[in-house]
Amino acid sequence: MEKKKAMFIVGSPRKDGNTSFLTNKLIDLLNNNFETEKIFLSDYNISPCKECYYCVEKDECSIKDDMQELYTKLKKAQLIILSSPIFMGGITATMKAFMERTWHLRKGQLKGKTGSYIIVGRRDIGSGINEMEGYLSRLQVNKIAGVFGFGFRQGDVSKDEEALKNIQRLSNQIINLNQK
Ligand SMILES: Cc1cc2nc3c(=O)[nH]c(=O)nc-3n(C[C@H](O)[C@H](O)[C@H](O)COP(=O)(O)O)c2cc1C
Repeated sequence: MEKKKAMFIVGSPRKDGNTSFLTNKLIDLLNNNFETEKIFLSDYNISPCKECYYCVEKDECSIKDDMQELYTKLKKAQLIILSSPIFMGGITATMKAFMERTWHLRKGQLKGKTGSYIIVGRRDIGSGINEMEGYLSRLQVNKIAGVFGFGFRQGDVSKDEEALKNIQRLSNQIINLNQK
């Protein structure tokens, strides 16, 4: 049987940073069950939303940049995981720009998919959880509580045992939901 697709979207500028580390742990646990793809938003040219309201009429975005490729990937994926460090008390500007550019997908186009998130801060994750939870609710996906970890320098989060335990918990929940 063909495996379902899982998309891991990383909003950290550090490719070998803490957010990426926890994301890789989750990918390792899900590789047997899903066809996984990890992307770094920093590799994509994503303009901010220009508030033209074209999408209100057309259900698509008027800006023809790399988001067009990501829309296709999102629609094909059964599992969507968003990973972001905390910058200034919230998710990164890159992740926020990505989210804003998916406004036209809030009308149930992604309904039935599963979504969750990973966030990493040095010590204060601020509004990170609310931002992720709010976004996944807007997309109307089946939301699973995400994982937050603590770390500052690259690799620090590998010592956060609670975060690692939670990655295992998240992978179990995803696999159980996927088997139903
Ligand atoms: C611009 C900037 C702002 C940050 N703001 C916060 C913050 O508000 N709260 C926090 O806990 N950590 C903050 N940090 C620390 C990062 O969240 C932390 O180093 C994290 O591990 C980075 O993830 P990464 O390794 O995946 O890039 C900030 C880091 C940067 C570069």
